[in-house]
Amino acid sequence: MKKNLLLSEDVDISYIYQFGDQFRLNKQLDHKGLLKELEQYKDKWSHYNPRITYIRRYGLSVFNHSGNIESGPDLDSLPQYNKIHKTNYKESDFNQATPVYRNSQYLPGLLEGLSPYCVRTHFLKLLPGGFFPPHRDHIYGKQKSFRMIVPLKNYNPPGLYFIIENKILYWEDGYIYVVNTTKEHSVFNVHSNSESLWLIINVLLCKESIKYVCDHITYR
Ligand SMILES: [Fe+2]
Repeated sequence: MKKNLLLSEDVDISYIYQFGDQFRLNKQLDHKGLLKELEQYKDKWSHYNPRITYIRRYGLSVFNHSGNIESGPDLDSLPQYNKIHKTNYKESDFNQATPVYRNSQYLPGLLEGLSPYCVRTHFLKLLPGGFFPPHRDHIYGKQKSFRMIVPLKNYNPPGLYFIIENKILYWEDGYIYVVNTTKEHSVFNVHSNSESLWLIINVLLCKESIKYVCDHITYR
């Protein structure tokens, strides 16, 4: 079990976003091996945001609130879930590794040095036609976590468009990227027959996670 970290008040998200809206770290996983490993969970995916079933998006938890593979607040809009269920889940509550992480041949290695600061983390699958309309992942108050994304399958145009403001993002297989999803962004899978697959990692903003990003940034 991970201990709850005390976040430093003197760290700021600009320590991360000063490097850009999307930048690559020098950490890469064997994405083909990971995709094969994920086949065992093919019946365990949950609808992402279960109230919007007409959008074909699915999630598989890696770090969540329970440590179990289940449909829950981590695979939902957190503000909407808290309002409906009268709960008060925060990003920092989703720090329990599920069997998807614990039994993985690849994930502990990829997240070595980072896992103590990982919170709400999941695989995300967009079937053809699946999308996220324009939105921001953070609005009110001081930002206490940031987002890392690993592209795994069908992640570049012309099959998939990940757009921040007016810029289309391009990705390389299996690398960890830091992405400024506080800016307006949208994702559309326009491929006719391929799903799009990503690993979405939320990281607590603290001195240690900032150092991790600086230690692993490319183009130094
Ligand atoms: Fe987002």
